[in-house]
Amino acid sequence: MSQKLFAAAFLISSYPVWARQITVTNSCQYTIWPAMFTGGTEKPSVPTGWEAPAGNTTTFAVPDNWVSGRIWGRTDCDFSKPNVSSCATGACNGGLLCAAVGGTGIPPVTVAEWTLGNATDGSPDNYDVSLVDGFNIPMSVVPTGGCTVASCTANLNTNCPAPLQLQGSGGVVGCKSACAAGLDNDSAGSPNCCTGSHDVPSTCPPSGVQYYSYFKDPCPDSYAYAYDESSKTALWTCPTNVTADYTVTFCPSNSTSSPLNSTSSSPLNSTSTP
Ligand SMILES: *[C@@H]1O[C@H](CO)[C@@H](O)[C@H](O)[C@H]1NC(C)=O
Ligand SMILES: *[C@@H]1O[C@H](CO)[C@@H](O)[C@H](O)[C@H]1NC(C)=O
Ligand SMILES: *[C@@H]1O[C@H](CO)[C@@H](O)[C@H](O)[C@H]1NC(C)=O
Ligand SMILES: *[C@@H]1O[C@H](CO)[C@@H](O)[C@H](O)[C@H]1NC(C)=O
Ligand SMILES: *[C@@H]1O[C@H](CO)[C@@H](O)[C@H](O)[C@H]1NC(C)=O
Ligand SMILES: *[C@@H]1O[C@H](CO)[C@@H](O)[C@H](O)[C@H]1NC(C)=O
Ligand SMILES: *[C@@H]1O[C@H](CO)[C@@H](O)[C@H](O)[C@H]1NC(C)=O
Ligand SMILES: *[C@@H]1O[C@H](CO)[C@@H](O)[C@H](O)[C@H]1NC(C)=O
Repeated sequence: MSQKLFAAAFLISSYPVWARQITVTNSCQYTIWPAMFTGGTEKPSVPTGWEAPAGNTTTFAVPDNWVSGRIWGRTDCDFSKPNVSSCATGACNGGLLCAAVGGTGIPPVTVAEWTLGNATDGSPDNYDVSLVDGFNIPMSVVPTGGCTVASCTANLNTNCPAPLQLQGSGGVVGCKSACAAGLDNDSAGSPNCCTGSHDVPSTCPPSGVQYYSYFKDPCPDSYAYAYDESSKTALWTCPTNVTADYTVTFCPSNSTSSPLNSTSSSPLNSTSTP
């Protein structure tokens, strides 16, 4: 084999196919530090944490065999402090760059999650905006190709119930889930956390989760507790042949160019279900 041919074969077999793009926009009027935690062996073309001043947009590629990952926003960061105390919300092990192992955001934090589909077996993309770990920043995930928008556009810090509040300098900086706040401590398990005797959907209904409606009512298209798939408006799918790109927007309602801005034609009012 000539050296050139060898090089070409090496490139084809070793480099990921950059099939998708994810765009992350900070429409908040303050700096945030987006963070990412990724599964699988193939990684996106961006570090696992970066600074996003107000208005910043960062676009990166993800390989089609990315498999899964999550993106969240961190607030009020000072990376001269150790790791997990470096931000008011969302801090991770590793500082600015979240560690490959154990580098997930500390609750309360709003999280965008993906499991990408597989063209070979035809499985679809699954994605959501999760409040299972509580809330810190409003967020939306807008796919291309007409797939449904997942979002929590309301600021749930504003009226966060007292037992769930995370206080920071200047007030409530995050709103904990009832699970994370440790509101129920039944030795048989927790209806808020869906653990123990409540560890299947039938024994962990939304009616047993304290403050469920505080999260789900203003954010009906978010994933509001561990078994929220029963709402049919928590986990969204996009067909694998769409190979959707995704735009993540922090504080989407503060953006003047967001599709969430319009009313009657809002993708939030899409009737498509997973
Ligand atoms: C929009 O921006 C204002 C001013 O910075 C901020 O107080 C408000 O919380 C933002 N709205 C949302 C939904 O985050
Ligand atoms: C904002 O986004 C651009 C484009 O992705 C990036 O190059 C730049 O470094 C970002 N600005 C800051 C201050 O991080
Ligand atoms: C996609 O599906 C095929 C067939 O089930 C499987 O062999 C392959 O490992 C999958 N790819 C990924 C990245 O999961
Ligand atoms: C900081 O993060 C690194 C990388 O994950 C970890 O090894 C270290 O133990 C962390 N330090 C603290 C104080 O949490
Ligand atoms: C729940 O249990 C944890 C750990 O045992 C404890 O720290 C916490 O105070 C308990 N909370 C309540 C409300 O009893
Ligand atoms: C994806 O597949 C479906 C079902 O086979 C088909 O109706 C649709 O047109 C395809 N979409 C694209 C973008 O290829
Ligand atoms: C979007 O919202 C801004 C601020 O409320 C408003 O000025 C603008 O006209 C809106 N645009 C559309 C297309 O509705
Ligand atoms: C969604 O659209 C339907 C039909 O067009 C309309 O009746 C309904 O009021 C809309 N809901 C919202 C929240 O805009």
